[in-house]
Amino acid sequence: MELQPVDLYYEEAGRGIPVVLIHGFPMDHTIWHRLVPLLENEARLIMPDLRGHGRSPVEGRVSSMRLMAEDVVRLLDRLNIDQAIVVGQSMGGYVALAFANAYPGRLAGLGLVASQAAADLPEKRQNRLKQVERIRRRGSALLAESMPAVLSADPNIQQFVREIILKTDARGITAALRGMAERANAEEWLAEISAPAVVIHGGQDALISMEPARTAAQLLSRAWLVELPTAGHMPMMEDPQAVADAIRQLICAVVNCRSD
Ligand code: MLT
Repeated sequence: MELQPVDLYYEEAGRGIPVVLIHGFPMDHTIWHRLVPLLENEARLIMPDLRGHGRSPVEGRVSSMRLMAEDVVRLLDRLNIDQAIVVGQSMGGYVALAFANAYPGRLAGLGLVASQAAADLPEKRQNRLKQVERIRRRGSALLAESMPAVLSADPNIQQFVREIILKTDARGITAALRGMAERANAEEWLAEISAPAVVIHGGQDALISMEPARTAAQLLSRAWLVELPTAGHMPMMEDPQAVADAIRQLICAVVNCRSD
């Protein structure tokens, strides 16, 4: 596999243990902004835009999860950070898992938000490839119409994500769809992750159900599950306080502090 990482655009805020926050598809780093005032006293929050998203370069036909993880490692290298807690939302969680698999020594802790470890079933994979063709014809507008209502029931969040999707380059979107379609089943090696982990999942998530999140939490050797009954697929925006509390607990599990 040829891995040619790119320099990612990123923003950072706060001081403390490095926590990388990886957005999902087809979003950008701004989905994490509500967490900044809640965590900036405990953590150095590093919020990249994945390749093909936000202000990062659009590169390549397939944005594999491994390649996107490699971009994150390159970012850590640029920042002289050896180990970090890596938290990913949805596709960002798939990238965090690829990071954990390829660079276990650089993972201090893992957070999966509205994500899963399972690969796509064949039908889902086929649907993604059909979606690639439709987006090639109609551009990002296609997703901007259909996706916001699936991500959250909150009209303000729907509007927020719609604007991000419309700004996202269609080539970045299709490359990420191809990358997600070909991702491996991480459930097979989850038990090997020795770092503390938290799985945060909304009870109203219309994109990824609670079941695979529960399975991920069971398979990870040092994980706990935080269920947020009223949140959908965007818990960091829908219930930022609960997500910040869960990440604070993860930080405590990593640095052995008291969480009360
Ligand atoms: C995401 O929200 O990142 C993606 O929609 C997840 C997926 O399609 O599997």
